[in-house]
Amino acid sequence: MSQLKQVYRCNVCGHIIEIVNPGAGQLVCCGQPMELLVEKIKDEGSEKHVPIIEKTTNGYKIKVGSVPHPMEAAHYIQWIELILDGVVLRKHLNPGEMPEVEFCVSVDAKSVSAREYCNVHGLWKS
Ligand SMILES: [Fe+2]
Repeated sequence: MSQLKQVYRCNVCGHIIEIVNPGAGQLVCCGQPMELLVEKIKDEGSEKHVPIIEKTTNGYKIKVGSVPHPMEAAHYIQWIELILDGVVLRKHLNPGEMPEVEFCVSVDAKSVSAREYCNVHGLWKS
């Protein structure tokens, strides 16, 4: 059974999907079960992936990570999500851009978290 906001990847074609409505069926792409991406929360090695959340006067700024992550064609942050009280805001990034985004929102959320997806190292959360 899938759960809301889980992220799955096809390791054949690269499809990535996020669950917006859970279901009991197995997710299949290219004839194979899709891989559930487990959110990592602790940095490993020299590259930093854990998103850093900063409250700003305009909303929230998310940076990846404590040392800016590479943004090269072969290795970059594909998207960053801000999740405020269950509401998901997502910005897709391209190689050459900064690995950060500011979401301009006027809410003071009780629950604030962030996720990002690195095309080499997978899904990360803070
Ligand atoms: Fe990475």
